Amino acid sequence: MCGIIGICLRDRSQLPLGEALFRGLLRLEYRGYDSAGIAVIDSSRLHIVKGKGRLDELEARLGFTKKYTGETGIAHTRWATHGQPSDINAHPHVDCSGLFAVVHNGIIENYLEVKEKLESRGHVFKSETDTEVFVHLVEELYRELGDVYSAFKSAIKHIRGAYAILLITPIEPNKIFFAKKDSPLVVGIGSSYNLLASDIPALLDHTRRVVVIRDNWVGYITPSSVFVEDLERGFSVDHEQYAMTVLWSLEDASREGYPHFMLKEIYEQPRALVQTLSGLRSDAVLEQVVSLLVDADNIYITGAGTSYHASEYYAYAMSKLAGRLVIPFIASEYELYEETASNKDVLIAVSQSGETIDVLKAVRAFKKQGCRVVAISNVVDSAIPRESDYAIYMRAGPEIGVAATKTFLTQTLVLGFLAIAYAKSSGDLSEAEYRQILLEDIEGSVKVLGKVIEKVDALARRLVERLSGVKSMYYLSRGVGVPIAREGALKIKEIAYVHAEAYPAGESKHGPIALVEPGYPVVFIVPNDPLLERRILGNIMEMKARGAYSIGVLHEESPLVNSVDYSITVPSLHWVTTPITHTPFLQLLAYHLAVKRGLDPDKPRNLAKTVTVE
Ligand code: F6R
Repeated sequence: MCGIIGICLRDRSQLPLGEALFRGLLRLEYRGYDSAGIAVIDSSRLHIVKGKGRLDELEARLGFTKKYTGETGIAHTRWATHGQPSDINAHPHVDCSGLFAVVHNGIIENYLEVKEKLESRGHVFKSETDTEVFVHLVEELYRELGDVYSAFKSAIKHIRGAYAILLITPIEPNKIFFAKKDSPLVVGIGSSYNLLASDIPALLDHTRRVVVIRDNWVGYITPSSVFVEDLERGFSVDHEQYAMTVLWSLEDASREGYPHFMLKEIYEQPRALVQTLSGLRSDAVLEQVVSLLVDADNIYITGAGTSYHASEYYAYAMSKLAGRLVIPFIASEYELYEETASNKDVLIAVSQSGETIDVLKAVRAFKKQGCRVVAISNVVDSAIPRESDYAIYMRAGPEIGVAATKTFLTQTLVLGFLAIAYAKSSGDLSEAEYRQILLEDIEGSVKVLGKVIEKVDALARRLVERLSGVKSMYYLSRGVGVPIAREGALKIKEIAYVHAEAYPAGESKHGPIALVEPGYPVVFIVPNDPLLERRILGNIMEMKARGAYSIGVLHEESPLVNSVDYSITVPSLHWVTTPITHTPFLQLLAYHLAVKRGLDPDKPRNLAKTVTVE
């Protein structure tokens, strides 16, 4: 996630360009805030200002708004994915000739390959970003083709991954070239000038008439026109057919029309997972991490709260897919294993924020024992990845709601991916099995997730009518479903303030069942695994015999569908995808119950997004 904006004026008296770009970036700051930059064309030359830091700091330090004027400009606010936040890695990026400037949101998966080719042709790279390859590619192709738009289109055809890209050049000073795939981009049609931005709020100071750009569209805007082509199908697009007028207020729009960030982030999960997958495919570190794990004596994994649930999922996946023992532990309890860890072991430290002090302390303690550490985080260059030997990023984009939602799904995707890559490398999964799980099941679950969320949202709203006065609940499951049950109970506790406990279903007989009385809600997470299903059925019956109100999250073909009082069915895919298919209902149940009770789900009492005290 990053935010981009471009403005194409007829003449500079219409707007102070630097100031307008800066204001647009402020509206996009929720998409990324570790560095930012602006490029404008003034007196036939590119002028660029960029740096590490939040927008207000940069404005004070570098003065985006006053010094930079002109007719055409682009700007970027960054959420680092490749290369740490720094002045050099901040966008815009320029080519060797200094004639092209580019801003990009997304991930170029084949950037290493492209970079190598360009370097062999003499291009010199300044940053560590994937984006910089694109601008050198345009430079290279422009030399060959002699036309900017042809070079831009051809460059797009050379890259793979996710992108919303804007390019400007003094060769054609009154145009902003754009392309989009899997990252959002919107054209704003003004009365006397045009704009482009990642999101509608950045356009609303200028216009309410917008065209949401579709995947594989490329084109350019000028102050008075918009040209769009569908690159895949090879024909030009009549953008007027897609134009619409935005009716929401600016405040609504910053949450893309959702009433809360939590809901927005739940609905954003399919998009976030696409970015995660795309990042994993281009992540050179992944292979090194897999061989480190294969060679390790012991593998430990740790995290706090939601990140600990993701850790438990990984331990289960590794045991079932590769027959490999992984020891999960809650980060604040690291002292239990600290003494036994050695320099032949590996610790995986999972932390969305990368700053949780309990996790950081575990990392430090294990490093002291000589253990190698792999961080899984969402925040590039945060403390935990910085202090670890390797870092793999979730690429979920900033999460504003205090409750972890999209970061849980993206964490489990990274960890599931790591587990199947390990199983393939250790020979426990054949190439065909690996491809089936990755391409059919995991990618399949991501593709259908948008529809799943819409469906389970309606079911969660309905259930909330019945549960509105509830005081206490259980969440039960077995195997891969146990961490999902824990996550469901944590969500409803922290957001709706309902007392909830999660247990392995077999454990419920050993005490918890004493609380069950008629109408007591028990949520069963039923993974797509016949053995687990059979055993969970017994637990459902035990609970129902005591009058419990049973709620089942099950796959569509589950034989248990009619055994529960209220069923929520999700696609029947490999059990590895259980976090992706089964968790959104639990998130939405917590969300709607909180709203029904008049609570603010984005800011639950007593909680903070980043916990930096022990
Ligand atoms: C739950 C939640 C917390 C965090 C925990 C760890 O919704 O947000 O339980 O999961 O504080 O945070 P990170 O992953 O940033 O280390």
